[in-house]
Amino acid sequence: MATITITDNRDGKQYEFDILSPTVGPDVIDIRSLYQKTGMFTYDPGFTSTASCSSSITYIDGEKGELRYRGYDISDLATKRTYLDTCYLLLMDKLPSKTELAAFDMEIRKRSFVHEGLKNLFYAFPDSAHPMAMMSSAVSALSAFHYEHLDIKEEEEFQIMARRILAKIPTLAALSYRRSLGIPFIYPDIERSFTENFLYMMRAYPSAETLIRDVEIKALDTIFTLHAEHEQNASTSTVRGVASTGAHPYAAISAGINALWGRAHGGANESVIAQLEMIGTVDKVDEFIKKAKDPDDDFRLMGFGHRVYKNFDPRAKILKQLLDELKEDLGVDSELLEVAMRIEEVALTDEYFIKRKLYPNIDFYSGLILTALKIPKSLFTIIFVIGRSVGWITQWIELRHDKEMKIARPRQRYTGPVSKKI
Ligand code: ACO
Repeated sequence: MATITITDNRDGKQYEFDILSPTVGPDVIDIRSLYQKTGMFTYDPGFTSTASCSSSITYIDGEKGELRYRGYDISDLATKRTYLDTCYLLLMDKLPSKTELAAFDMEIRKRSFVHEGLKNLFYAFPDSAHPMAMMSSAVSALSAFHYEHLDIKEEEEFQIMARRILAKIPTLAALSYRRSLGIPFIYPDIERSFTENFLYMMRAYPSAETLIRDVEIKALDTIFTLHAEHEQNASTSTVRGVASTGAHPYAAISAGINALWGRAHGGANESVIAQLEMIGTVDKVDEFIKKAKDPDDDFRLMGFGHRVYKNFDPRAKILKQLLDELKEDLGVDSELLEVAMRIEEVALTDEYFIKRKLYPNIDFYSGLILTALKIPKSLFTIIFVIGRSVGWITQWIELRHDKEMKIARPRQRYTGPVSKKI
Protein backbone atom coordinates (compact mmCIF):
# COMPACT_ATOMS: atom_id res chain seq x y z
CA MET A 1 0.00 0.00 0.00
CA ALA A 2 1.37 3.43 -0.95
CA THR A 3 1.60 5.87 1.93
CA ILE A 4 2.29 9.54 2.52
CA THR A 5 4.12 10.98 5.49
CA ILE A 6 3.39 14.39 6.91
CA THR A 7 5.76 16.14 9.24
CA ASP A 8 4.60 18.55 11.94
CA ASN A 9 7.33 21.19 11.74
CA ARG A 10 6.51 22.41 15.25
CA ASP A 11 7.91 19.28 16.90
CA GLY A 12 9.24 17.17 14.00
CA LYS A 13 6.71 14.33 14.62
CA GLN A 14 5.83 12.30 11.55
CA TYR A 15 2.51 10.68 10.68
CA GLU A 16 1.86 8.16 7.95
CA PHE A 17 -1.36 7.80 5.95
CA ASP A 18 -2.44 5.30 3.29
CA ILE A 19 -2.94 6.45 -0.28
CA LEU A 20 -5.98 4.85 -1.93
CA SER A 21 -6.09 4.57 -5.70
CA PRO A 22 -9.29 4.89 -7.72
CA THR A 23 -9.81 3.04 -11.04
CA VAL A 24 -9.13 6.38 -12.75
CA GLY A 25 -8.56 9.92 -11.48
CA PRO A 26 -6.58 11.41 -8.59
CA ASP A 27 -5.44 9.21 -5.69
CA VAL A 28 -6.89 10.03 -2.29
CA ILE A 29 -5.15 10.26 1.09
CA ASP A 30 -7.04 8.22 3.65
CA ILE A 31 -7.16 10.62 6.59
CA ARG A 32 -9.84 8.85 8.59
CA SER A 33 -7.34 8.29 11.42
CA LEU A 34 -5.96 11.87 11.28
CA TYR A 35 -7.68 13.17 14.40
CA GLN A 36 -6.92 10.03 16.38
CA LYS A 37 -3.23 10.18 15.41
CA THR A 38 -2.60 13.93 15.49
CA GLY A 39 -5.45 15.57 17.41
CA MET A 40 -6.00 17.81 14.36
CA PHE A 41 -8.74 18.24 11.77
CA THR A 42 -8.38 19.17 8.09
CA TYR A 43 -9.73 22.56 6.98
CA ASP A 44 -11.42 22.59 3.56
CA PRO A 45 -14.39 24.98 3.23
CA GLY A 46 -16.44 24.06 0.17
CA PHE A 47 -14.71 20.64 0.09
CA THR A 48 -12.46 21.65 -2.81
CA SER A 49 -9.91 18.94 -1.94
CA THR A 50 -12.11 16.41 -0.21
CA ALA A 51 -13.49 13.10 -1.49
CA SER A 52 -16.54 12.45 0.70
CA CYS A 53 -17.15 8.87 -0.41
CA SER A 54 -16.18 6.10 -2.82
CA SER A 55 -18.54 5.83 -5.78
CA SER A 56 -18.73 3.79 -8.98
CA ILE A 57 -21.47 5.81 -10.68
CA THR A 58 -19.96 8.84 -12.42
CA TYR A 59 -16.47 9.90 -13.42
CA ILE A 60 -15.51 13.50 -14.21
CA ASP A 61 -12.17 14.74 -15.46
CA GLY A 62 -12.56 18.47 -15.01
CA GLU A 63 -9.25 19.37 -16.64
CA LYS A 64 -9.99 17.45 -19.82
CA GLY A 65 -13.74 18.17 -19.76
CA GLU A 66 -14.82 14.51 -19.62
CA LEU A 67 -17.95 13.02 -18.08
CA ARG A 68 -18.89 9.33 -17.94
CA TYR A 69 -21.86 7.55 -16.39
CA ARG A 70 -20.98 3.97 -15.37
CA GLY A 71 -18.02 4.16 -17.77
CA TYR A 72 -20.01 5.40 -20.81
CA ASP A 73 -19.11 8.74 -22.36
CA ILE A 74 -21.87 11.34 -21.95
CA SER A 75 -21.69 12.22 -25.63
CA ASP A 76 -22.45 8.60 -26.68
CA LEU A 77 -25.34 8.39 -24.26
CA ALA A 78 -26.79 11.75 -25.27
CA THR A 79 -26.57 11.11 -29.01
CA LYS A 80 -27.18 7.35 -29.27
CA ARG A 81 -29.50 6.52 -26.37
CA THR A 82 -32.57 7.93 -24.66
CA TYR A 83 -32.96 9.32 -21.15
CA LEU A 84 -34.69 6.14 -20.00
CA ASP A 85 -31.74 4.03 -21.26
CA THR A 86 -29.54 6.25 -19.10
CA CYS A 87 -31.83 5.85 -16.08
CA TYR A 88 -31.68 2.09 -16.47
CA LEU A 89 -27.91 2.25 -16.83
CA LEU A 90 -27.52 4.29 -13.66
CA LEU A 91 -29.89 2.18 -11.59
CA MET A 92 -28.94 -1.28 -12.88
CA ASP A 93 -25.27 -0.66 -13.81
CA LYS A 94 -25.80 -1.92 -17.37
CA LEU A 95 -27.43 -0.66 -20.52
CA PRO A 96 -30.80 -2.34 -21.10
CA SER A 97 -31.56 -4.80 -23.89
CA LYS A 98 -34.59 -3.92 -26.05
CA THR A 99 -36.85 -6.16 -23.94
CA GLU A 100 -35.49 -4.80 -20.66
CA LEU A 101 -35.99 -1.24 -21.86
CA ALA A 102 -39.56 -1.94 -22.98
CA ALA A 103 -40.42 -3.43 -19.57
CA PHE A 104 -38.70 -0.56 -17.71
CA ASP A 105 -40.44 2.03 -19.87
CA MET A 106 -43.87 0.47 -19.24
CA GLU A 107 -43.20 0.26 -15.50
CA ILE A 108 -42.26 3.96 -15.38
CA ARG A 109 -45.38 4.92 -17.35
CA LYS A 110 -47.63 2.93 -14.98
CA ARG A 111 -46.00 4.41 -11.89
CA SER A 112 -46.40 8.00 -13.11
CA PHE A 113 -49.75 8.61 -11.35
CA VAL A 114 -49.74 10.23 -7.92
CA HIS A 115 -52.21 9.61 -5.09
CA GLU A 116 -55.31 11.76 -5.56
CA GLY A 117 -54.82 13.11 -2.03
CA LEU A 118 -51.43 14.53 -2.94
CA LYS A 119 -53.05 16.84 -5.46
CA ASN A 120 -54.78 18.65 -2.57
CA LEU A 121 -51.41 19.85 -1.36
CA PHE A 122 -51.11 22.07 -4.42
CA TYR A 123 -54.30 23.98 -3.53
CA ALA A 124 -52.65 25.17 -0.32
CA PHE A 125 -50.08 27.27 -2.20
CA PRO A 126 -50.58 30.92 -3.10
CA ASP A 127 -50.86 31.81 -6.81
CA SER A 128 -47.42 33.37 -6.67
CA ALA A 129 -45.69 30.20 -5.41
CA HIS A 130 -42.50 29.35 -7.27
CA PRO A 131 -42.75 25.86 -8.85
CA MET A 132 -39.52 24.80 -7.04
CA ALA A 133 -41.12 25.55 -3.65
CA MET A 134 -44.13 23.41 -4.60
CA MET A 135 -41.91 20.70 -6.04
CA SER A 136 -39.73 20.20 -2.98
CA SER A 137 -42.81 20.19 -0.71
CA ALA A 138 -44.61 17.69 -2.94
CA VAL A 139 -41.63 15.33 -3.05
CA SER A 140 -41.32 15.56 0.72
CA ALA A 141 -45.07 14.85 1.01
CA LEU A 142 -44.61 11.80 -1.20
CA SER A 143 -42.73 10.20 1.71
CA ALA A 144 -46.01 10.25 3.66
CA PHE A 145 -47.75 8.37 0.85
CA HIS A 146 -44.97 5.78 0.52
CA TYR A 147 -43.71 5.63 4.08
CA GLU A 148 -42.81 1.94 3.70
CA HIS A 149 -39.65 2.97 1.81
CA LEU A 150 -38.08 4.14 5.07
CA ASP A 151 -36.87 0.65 5.91
CA ILE A 152 -35.73 -0.98 2.71
CA LYS A 153 -33.92 -4.30 2.86
CA GLU A 154 -34.52 -6.28 -0.33
CA GLU A 155 -32.95 -5.29 -3.66
CA GLU A 156 -36.39 -5.36 -5.27
CA GLU A 157 -37.67 -2.77 -2.78
CA PHE A 158 -34.78 -0.42 -3.63
CA GLN A 159 -35.78 -0.59 -7.28
CA ILE A 160 -39.49 -0.05 -6.63
CA MET A 161 -38.69 2.98 -4.47
CA ALA A 162 -36.34 4.41 -7.13
CA ARG A 163 -38.64 3.81 -10.09
CA ARG A 164 -41.58 5.26 -8.19
CA ILE A 165 -39.85 8.61 -7.60
CA LEU A 166 -38.42 8.69 -11.11
CA ALA A 167 -41.88 8.17 -12.61
CA LYS A 168 -43.75 10.57 -10.34
CA ILE A 169 -41.42 13.56 -10.40
CA PRO A 170 -42.51 14.71 -13.91
CA THR A 171 -46.14 14.45 -12.81
CA LEU A 172 -45.45 16.56 -9.71
CA ALA A 173 -43.47 19.00 -11.86
CA ALA A 174 -46.43 19.42 -14.24
CA LEU A 175 -48.81 19.82 -11.28
CA SER A 176 -46.54 22.55 -9.85
CA TYR A 177 -46.57 24.35 -13.17
CA ARG A 178 -50.31 24.07 -13.75
CA ARG A 179 -51.03 25.18 -10.18
CA SER A 180 -48.84 28.25 -10.70
CA LEU A 181 -51.08 29.19 -13.65
CA GLY A 182 -54.34 28.03 -12.06
CA ILE A 183 -55.12 25.76 -15.01
CA PRO A 184 -56.72 22.29 -14.70
CA PHE A 185 -54.49 19.36 -13.76
CA ILE A 186 -53.81 16.79 -16.47
CA TYR A 187 -53.30 13.09 -15.74
CA PRO A 188 -50.33 11.22 -17.21
CA ASP A 189 -51.03 9.48 -20.52
CA ILE A 190 -49.42 6.05 -20.49
CA GLU A 191 -49.60 5.86 -24.27
CA ARG A 192 -46.78 8.42 -24.33
CA SER A 193 -43.06 8.04 -23.67
CA PHE A 194 -41.46 9.58 -20.55
CA THR A 195 -40.39 12.85 -22.14
CA GLU A 196 -43.39 13.24 -24.43
CA ASN A 197 -45.68 12.59 -21.48
CA PHE A 198 -44.07 15.41 -19.49
CA LEU A 199 -44.55 17.87 -22.37
CA TYR A 200 -48.12 16.61 -22.70
CA MET A 201 -48.89 17.14 -18.99
CA MET A 202 -47.47 20.66 -19.27
CA ARG A 203 -49.26 21.72 -22.43
CA ALA A 204 -52.50 19.80 -22.72
CA TYR A 205 -55.94 21.27 -22.39
CA PRO A 206 -58.72 18.86 -21.38
CA SER A 207 -60.37 17.25 -24.45
CA ALA A 208 -58.24 19.07 -26.99
CA GLU A 209 -55.50 17.61 -29.10
CA THR A 210 -51.94 18.45 -28.03
CA LEU A 211 -49.23 18.95 -30.59
CA ILE A 212 -45.81 17.68 -29.48
CA ARG A 213 -43.17 17.49 -32.19
CA ASP A 214 -40.46 14.82 -32.34
CA VAL A 215 -37.78 17.49 -32.47
CA GLU A 216 -39.06 18.87 -29.15
CA ILE A 217 -39.01 15.42 -27.54
CA LYS A 218 -35.47 14.82 -28.78
CA ALA A 219 -34.23 18.17 -27.44
CA LEU A 220 -35.80 17.74 -24.00
CA ASP A 221 -34.79 14.09 -23.74
CA THR A 222 -31.16 15.09 -24.42
CA ILE A 223 -31.37 17.78 -21.73
CA PHE A 224 -32.66 15.18 -19.25
CA THR A 225 -29.80 12.80 -20.14
CA LEU A 226 -27.18 15.53 -19.71
CA HIS A 227 -28.55 16.39 -16.27
CA ALA A 228 -28.98 12.79 -15.05
CA GLU A 229 -25.90 12.49 -12.82
CA HIS A 230 -22.89 14.53 -11.79
CA GLU A 231 -21.15 12.83 -8.85
CA GLN A 232 -20.78 14.72 -5.53
CA ASN A 233 -22.13 18.18 -6.46
CA ALA A 234 -23.93 20.35 -3.86
CA SER A 235 -27.39 18.81 -4.28
CA THR A 236 -26.14 15.21 -4.45
CA SER A 237 -23.97 15.76 -1.39
CA THR A 238 -27.08 17.12 0.33
CA VAL A 239 -29.04 14.00 -0.62
CA ARG A 240 -26.20 11.83 0.73
CA GLY A 241 -25.93 13.93 3.89
CA VAL A 242 -29.64 13.53 4.64
CA ALA A 243 -29.54 9.84 3.64
CA SER A 244 -26.66 9.25 6.06
CA THR A 245 -28.98 10.02 8.98
CA GLY A 246 -31.38 7.25 7.94
CA ALA A 247 -34.11 9.65 6.75
CA HIS A 248 -36.75 8.62 4.19
CA PRO A 249 -35.33 8.56 0.63
CA TYR A 250 -37.92 11.01 -0.68
CA ALA A 251 -37.10 13.42 2.18
CA ALA A 252 -33.47 13.24 1.04
CA ILE A 253 -34.50 13.96 -2.57
CA SER A 254 -36.60 16.89 -1.40
CA ALA A 255 -33.54 18.30 0.38
CA GLY A 256 -31.55 17.83 -2.82
CA ILE A 257 -34.18 19.80 -4.74
CA ASN A 258 -33.81 22.69 -2.32
CA ALA A 259 -30.01 22.61 -2.61
CA LEU A 260 -30.31 22.64 -6.39
CA TRP A 261 -32.51 25.74 -6.33
CA GLY A 262 -29.67 28.17 -5.59
CA ARG A 263 -28.26 30.38 -8.34
CA ALA A 264 -24.74 29.00 -7.93
CA HIS A 265 -26.12 25.54 -8.79
CA GLY A 266 -29.27 24.48 -10.71
CA GLY A 267 -30.94 27.87 -10.35
CA ALA A 268 -28.34 29.25 -12.76
CA ASN A 269 -30.34 28.19 -15.84
CA GLU A 270 -33.20 30.50 -14.82
CA SER A 271 -30.73 33.32 -14.13
CA VAL A 272 -28.93 32.87 -17.47
CA ILE A 273 -32.03 33.69 -19.51
CA ALA A 274 -33.00 36.50 -17.13
CA GLN A 275 -29.50 37.91 -17.64
CA LEU A 276 -29.58 37.52 -21.44
CA GLU A 277 -32.95 39.31 -21.49
CA MET A 278 -31.54 42.06 -19.27
CA ILE A 279 -28.51 42.53 -21.54
CA GLY A 280 -30.96 42.54 -24.44
CA THR A 281 -28.78 43.53 -27.40
CA VAL A 282 -25.33 42.63 -28.68
CA ASP A 283 -24.00 46.18 -28.25
CA LYS A 284 -24.52 45.93 -24.45
CA VAL A 285 -22.41 42.77 -24.06
CA ASP A 286 -19.08 44.53 -23.47
CA GLU A 287 -20.58 46.64 -20.66
CA PHE A 288 -21.72 43.50 -18.79
CA ILE A 289 -18.45 41.66 -19.40
CA LYS A 290 -16.76 44.64 -17.77
CA LYS A 291 -19.09 44.39 -14.78
CA ALA A 292 -18.38 40.63 -14.47
CA LYS A 293 -14.64 41.35 -14.35
CA ASP A 294 -14.89 44.15 -11.81
CA PRO A 295 -13.75 42.86 -8.37
CA ASP A 296 -15.88 45.54 -6.67
CA ASP A 297 -19.06 44.46 -8.49
CA ASP A 298 -20.72 41.22 -7.39
CA PHE A 299 -22.26 40.76 -10.87
CA ARG A 300 -21.31 37.33 -12.32
CA LEU A 301 -21.79 36.09 -15.82
CA MET A 302 -24.40 33.40 -15.24
CA GLY A 303 -23.72 30.11 -17.03
CA PHE A 304 -19.95 30.61 -16.80
CA GLY A 305 -17.55 28.79 -14.52
CA HIS A 306 -17.73 25.49 -12.75
CA ARG A 307 -16.18 24.10 -9.59
CA VAL A 308 -14.91 20.98 -11.36
CA TYR A 309 -14.67 21.80 -15.07
CA LYS A 310 -11.64 23.91 -15.83
CA ASN A 311 -12.26 23.31 -19.51
CA PHE A 312 -15.43 23.29 -21.66
CA ASP A 313 -18.24 21.55 -19.75
CA PRO A 314 -18.77 18.46 -21.99
CA ARG A 315 -22.53 18.77 -21.48
CA ALA A 316 -22.38 22.36 -22.71
CA LYS A 317 -20.57 21.19 -25.85
CA ILE A 318 -23.36 18.72 -26.64
CA LEU A 319 -26.06 21.31 -26.02
CA LYS A 320 -24.29 23.89 -28.17
CA GLN A 321 -24.21 21.37 -31.00
CA LEU A 322 -27.86 20.49 -30.45
CA LEU A 323 -28.72 24.18 -30.49
CA ASP A 324 -26.90 24.58 -33.81
CA GLU A 325 -28.69 21.60 -35.32
CA LEU A 326 -32.17 22.34 -34.06
CA LYS A 327 -32.35 26.13 -33.71
CA GLU A 328 -34.46 26.56 -36.85
CA ASP A 329 -36.76 23.60 -36.24
CA LEU A 330 -37.25 24.56 -32.61
CA GLY A 331 -37.61 28.26 -33.34
CA VAL A 332 -34.92 29.45 -30.92
CA ASP A 333 -35.18 33.20 -30.19
CA SER A 334 -32.62 34.64 -32.59
CA GLU A 335 -32.02 37.86 -30.60
CA LEU A 336 -31.28 36.02 -27.35
CA LEU A 337 -29.12 33.56 -29.26
CA GLU A 338 -27.16 36.40 -30.84
CA VAL A 339 -26.49 37.97 -27.42
CA ALA A 340 -25.47 34.57 -26.00
CA MET A 341 -23.09 33.85 -28.87
CA ARG A 342 -21.47 37.26 -28.51
CA ILE A 343 -20.98 36.74 -24.76
CA GLU A 344 -19.47 33.33 -25.43
CA GLU A 345 -17.13 34.79 -28.06
CA VAL A 346 -15.96 37.67 -25.88
CA ALA A 347 -15.56 35.58 -22.72
CA LEU A 348 -13.61 32.81 -24.42
CA THR A 349 -11.03 35.28 -25.68
CA ASP A 350 -10.86 37.53 -22.62
CA GLU A 351 -7.81 37.28 -20.35
CA TYR A 352 -9.95 37.41 -17.16
CA PHE A 353 -11.99 34.34 -18.14
CA ILE A 354 -9.04 32.46 -19.67
CA LYS A 355 -6.88 32.93 -16.58
CA ARG A 356 -9.63 31.66 -14.26
CA LYS A 357 -10.60 28.85 -16.66
CA LEU A 358 -14.19 30.09 -16.82
CA TYR A 359 -15.96 28.28 -19.66
CA PRO A 360 -19.66 28.17 -20.50
CA ASN A 361 -21.41 25.49 -18.43
CA ILE A 362 -24.51 23.44 -19.26
CA ASP A 363 -26.84 26.16 -18.01
CA PHE A 364 -25.55 28.68 -20.50
CA TYR A 365 -27.19 26.83 -23.40
CA SER A 366 -30.05 24.86 -21.84
CA GLY A 367 -32.22 27.95 -21.23
CA LEU A 368 -32.20 28.89 -24.91
CA ILE A 369 -33.53 25.46 -25.85
CA LEU A 370 -36.05 25.40 -23.01
CA THR A 371 -37.35 28.83 -24.02
CA ALA A 372 -37.87 27.53 -27.56
CA LEU A 373 -39.83 24.62 -26.05
CA LYS A 374 -42.10 27.30 -24.50
CA ILE A 375 -41.09 26.26 -21.01
CA PRO A 376 -41.23 29.32 -18.74
CA LYS A 377 -38.11 30.48 -16.89
CA SER A 378 -39.57 29.58 -13.49
CA LEU A 379 -39.62 25.96 -14.61
CA PHE A 380 -36.05 25.66 -15.82
CA THR A 381 -34.69 24.36 -12.53
CA ILE A 382 -37.62 21.92 -12.39
CA ILE A 383 -36.38 20.46 -15.68
CA PHE A 384 -33.02 19.98 -13.98
CA VAL A 385 -34.82 18.24 -11.07
CA ILE A 386 -36.55 15.80 -13.44
CA GLY A 387 -33.26 14.89 -15.13
CA ARG A 388 -31.25 14.66 -11.90
CA SER A 389 -33.80 12.64 -9.89
CA VAL A 390 -32.28 9.38 -11.16
CA GLY A 391 -28.78 10.47 -10.15
CA TRP A 392 -29.89 11.40 -6.65
CA ILE A 393 -31.72 8.16 -6.08
CA THR A 394 -28.87 6.07 -7.50
CA GLN A 395 -26.48 7.81 -5.11
CA TRP A 396 -28.93 7.22 -2.25
CA ILE A 397 -28.94 3.49 -3.05
CA GLU A 398 -25.15 3.38 -3.33
CA LEU A 399 -24.79 5.06 0.06
CA ARG A 400 -27.17 2.58 1.68
CA HIS A 401 -25.05 -0.31 0.39
CA ASP A 402 -21.73 1.25 1.44
CA LYS A 403 -20.39 -0.42 4.58
CA GLU A 404 -17.92 2.45 5.17
CA MET A 405 -20.55 5.19 5.31
CA LYS A 406 -21.16 7.03 8.54
CA ILE A 407 -23.47 9.90 9.41
CA ALA A 408 -22.17 13.02 7.60
CA ARG A 409 -20.81 15.09 10.45
CA PRO A 410 -17.93 17.45 9.60
CA ARG A 411 -16.00 19.30 12.30
CA GLN A 412 -14.93 22.95 12.36
CA ARG A 413 -12.17 25.39 13.24
CA TYR A 414 -13.79 27.25 16.14
CA THR A 415 -13.10 31.00 16.12
CA GLY A 416 -15.49 32.22 18.84
CA PRO A 417 -14.72 33.25 22.43
CA VAL A 418 -13.09 30.59 24.60
CA SER A 419 -15.28 31.05 27.61
CA LYS A 420 -17.51 33.81 29.01
CA LYS A 421 -19.18 34.19 32.36
CA ILE A 422 -22.79 35.36 32.81
N1 ACO B 1 -18.43 35.51 -13.79
C1 ACO B 1 -17.37 36.28 -13.42
N2 ACO B 1 -16.40 35.84 -12.60
C2 ACO B 1 -16.48 34.59 -12.14
C3 ACO B 1 -17.54 33.72 -12.49
C4 ACO B 1 -18.54 34.23 -13.34
N3 ACO B 1 -19.57 33.46 -13.70
N4 ACO B 1 -17.38 32.53 -11.88
C5 ACO B 1 -16.24 32.64 -11.17
N5 ACO B 1 -15.69 33.87 -11.33
C6 ACO B 1 -14.41 34.36 -10.76
C7 ACO B 1 -14.54 34.67 -9.28
O1 ACO B 1 -14.90 36.01 -9.07
C8 ACO B 1 -13.14 34.35 -8.79
O2 ACO B 1 -12.31 35.41 -9.19
P1 ACO B 1 -11.06 35.85 -8.24
O3 ACO B 1 -10.13 34.66 -8.25
O4 ACO B 1 -10.49 37.05 -8.90
O5 ACO B 1 -11.64 36.11 -6.88
C9 ACO B 1 -12.74 33.13 -9.62
O6 ACO B 1 -13.49 33.27 -10.85
C10 ACO B 1 -13.06 31.78 -8.98
O7 ACO B 1 -14.44 31.77 -8.61
P2 ACO B 1 -15.05 30.90 -7.40
O8 ACO B 1 -16.40 31.41 -7.06
O9 ACO B 1 -14.03 30.82 -6.31
O10 ACO B 1 -15.13 29.47 -8.08
P3 ACO B 1 -15.99 28.25 -7.59
O11 ACO B 1 -15.40 27.05 -8.22
O12 ACO B 1 -16.13 28.23 -6.12
O13 ACO B 1 -17.45 28.56 -8.18
C11 ACO B 1 -19.35 28.63 -9.59
C12 ACO B 1 -18.02 27.92 -9.28
C13 ACO B 1 -20.22 28.73 -8.31
C14 ACO B 1 -20.13 27.77 -10.59
C15 ACO B 1 -19.07 30.03 -10.18
O14 ACO B 1 -18.25 29.90 -11.33
C16 ACO B 1 -20.33 30.83 -10.50
O15 ACO B 1 -20.89 31.46 -9.60
N6 ACO B 1 -20.81 30.78 -11.78
C17 ACO B 1 -22.02 31.45 -12.16
C18 ACO B 1 -23.22 30.62 -11.74
C19 ACO B 1 -23.40 29.39 -12.59
O16 ACO B 1 -23.35 29.43 -13.81
N7 ACO B 1 -23.70 28.25 -11.90
C20 ACO B 1 -23.96 26.97 -12.57
C21 ACO B 1 -22.90 25.96 -12.25
S1 ACO B 1 -23.16 24.52 -13.21
C22 ACO B 1 -24.34 23.66 -12.41
O17 ACO B 1 -24.64 23.77 -11.30
C23 ACO B 1 -25.04 22.70 -13.29
